[in-house]
Amino acid sequence: MSAPTAADPTALKRHLGPWTLTALGIGAVIGGGIFVITGTAAARFAGPAIVISFVISGMGCLFAGLCYAEFAAMYPVAGSAYSYSYAALGRSTAWFVGWNLVLEYLVSASAVAVGWSGYFVGFLKSLGIALSPALTGAPMTFSSSQGLVLTGALINLPAIGLVLLLSTFLIVGVRETARANAVMVAIKITVVLLVILFGAGHINVQNWQPFIPANTGTFGHYGWSGIVAAAGLVFFAYIGFDAVSVAAQEARNPQRDLPVGILASLLVCTVLYILMALVLTGLASYRTLDVADPVSFAVSQIPALQWLTIVVEFGATVGLASVAFVGLYGQSRIFYAMARDGFLPPVFCRVHPRFRTPVLGTVVTGTIAALLAGLFPIEILSELVSIGTLCAFSVVCVGVMLLRVREPNAPRPFRTPLVWVVAPAGLMICLTMMYGLPAATWARLGIWTAVGFAIYFGYGVFHAAHRPQWQAEASAAPLSQGAGRRD
Ligand code: ALA
Repeated sequence: MSAPTAADPTALKRHLGPWTLTALGIGAVIGGGIFVITGTAAARFAGPAIVISFVISGMGCLFAGLCYAEFAAMYPVAGSAYSYSYAALGRSTAWFVGWNLVLEYLVSASAVAVGWSGYFVGFLKSLGIALSPALTGAPMTFSSSQGLVLTGALINLPAIGLVLLLSTFLIVGVRETARANAVMVAIKITVVLLVILFGAGHINVQNWQPFIPANTGTFGHYGWSGIVAAAGLVFFAYIGFDAVSVAAQEARNPQRDLPVGILASLLVCTVLYILMALVLTGLASYRTLDVADPVSFAVSQIPALQWLTIVVEFGATVGLASVAFVGLYGQSRIFYAMARDGFLPPVFCRVHPRFRTPVLGTVVTGTIAALLAGLFPIEILSELVSIGTLCAFSVVCVGVMLLRVREPNAPRPFRTPLVWVVAPAGLMICLTMMYGLPAATWARLGIWTAVGFAIYFGYGVFHAAHRPQWQAEASAAPLSQGAGRRD
């Protein structure tokens, strides 16, 4: 597949190594979840026990990540969980998963762009530049009692601008943007580390009392049910590590580097999140953290850490941009994979002759993501992202077990350790987190699925094969076959 485009108009360049892939993973993961949603989840659902929610969510991701890694090494083709489901569970499940991955990548890029807009506006404000709230907020939101509500704002212009700018970078070429991504990842990890290191010395342990606030009598409102509800919310913070596997066709040595990239990025983020959650809830009372910029807010509560506030705002602005970038990147590659397999029209896997990037998929992704980011608030978008991704993760956990039974001898360069424990545990944790999400989010998932199947029965069912062609090739290939030659 690394042949020149003249020979194959759908060829992508293979130029990503283990470090770039891990950076891609971390770039996709640390973002709106830790910088925005942690505060909401602690204040409304779990209190300081948000730390336990992060542990539960991280374990679910680790188990699902180990299953992802087995698949990613077996089938180093673009498309992530979509491609794995196609291999393990067939055509309609593949479509269902692929359609949910649109939530994970495209809609999360929108959600993160909205979070970015909040920090960006705060950052400009610190510099003395005030933007009109009417042009920086979501015009619509959803309330459980009133349905769709108009907020009075006109449009979230910074969020739209970010999505359009990043989409343009993506069209021009991934190598250059992967370098920029590495710089952005370094900046945001530095900021997270600064908050942890400097914040740790100012923790007031009184803020951790009670560590698990008593349940108020309502499911999800503190207590253990609150911890589960918060786990479903902060799951958003972990989403993205599987973006590493989406880059399979652009990795130099996918069999070795994809599992490394997935697991390394997940491990780094889990440790950082747990420490960050401890510091945030230690610096300020959890009750005060339900704000648009909880990290800079918590830091600003400590007089000795005033200098850190603007650093956090800057780092969050850069960090969130890198997450939105990976979301848009991942989505265009998933469209690419789905078109390659016949679920979408072939124009989606056509690669630009000079830039060698899938232009149409990127333009479509950017346009829809920009619209969503301009119109809706982060909570609505992020909950939808979480439930769709949890669905996709559950299918991956089931798929890895099914394939062990169906194709026990297929080459597996990476094997999920203790698969019969890890995969069911991953599935259980994902289903539990889905259970903790609000009923309205389930309803939106239902509508999304119905629309998806309408498209599937209108197009994909007539064009996609029951089993993917690349699966037969991968199963037949000997283990020693070199990376990058299976597709
Ligand atoms: N994990 C990503 C974030 O937190 C989606 O922004």
